[in-house]
Amino acid sequence: MADLRMNVRRLQALRASGTPIVALTCYEAAFARLLGDCGVDLLLVGDSLGMVVQGADSTLPVTVDDVAYHTRCVAAVESPALIMSDLPFGSYQVSPQQAFESAARLVAAGAQMVKLEGGTLMARTVEFISERGVPVCGHIGLTPQSVHQYGGYVVQGRNEDSVAQLIADAIALQEAGARMLVLETVPAPVGHAIRDAVDIPVIGCGAGPDCDGQVLVLHDMLGITPPPLPRFVRDFSAGGGGVGEAVRRYVDAVRTRSFPAIAECYP
Ligand code: KIV
Repeated sequence: MADLRMNVRRLQALRASGTPIVALTCYEAAFARLLGDCGVDLLLVGDSLGMVVQGADSTLPVTVDDVAYHTRCVAAVESPALIMSDLPFGSYQVSPQQAFESAARLVAAGAQMVKLEGGTLMARTVEFISERGVPVCGHIGLTPQSVHQYGGYVVQGRNEDSVAQLIADAIALQEAGARMLVLETVPAPVGHAIRDAVDIPVIGCGAGPDCDGQVLVLHDMLGITPPPLPRFVRDFSAGGGGVGEAVRRYVDAVRTRSFPAIAECYP
């Protein structure tokens, strides 16, 4: 039987063909089945689970055990979507060896790819993990694990130096072997520039319409998260019809590039 499951080669082919990649966060089995059935390409077991599932006010308290547990829940059902899991705060910054040990635990739990925050500074770590057989996604732009360093969740790429650094980060991660990038909370033209600067898929989360795909936190796009929400979040439950309909509307809106709209982008 043909293996229809999404993988890194297929993600790359989607970029090459100009087909937007549809991603959502997912933390458990029931949603893993539903999102896969609705045509979502990529399930991110994000450290946003700290806020969404655990009720914390940031992603910082999340542990590898937590992400491994939720990865196992997501991987427990058959789904055509690729599973990517976040390396949580403190589980990869010490050394490439520490990062690989954490990544290996997430892969053992069912992750096909791991994501870590940081650019040029993390390139050696990305190289170390990738060379040992684990695909890595780099997360740049607003990196929520650095919230205290920013002093809040602040839009990135607002001046020339910051844009130049983001482009250098994207290229460094690609050269280190990253197979994908998540780009969070930057002005739409910066999303465009970074997408053009690399050959690997760039998934936007508040980075404008020109990325190779979009990702949102599931509970945000289902209208469950209490306001205030970032401007790039659309409530896909607003049209009614239940959870499945909301997810199908999201899949359609990403594929047709009607999401994000101009009002959902940072100028
Ligand atoms: O943890 C998460 O949900 C994420 C997305 C916001 C990209 O990293």
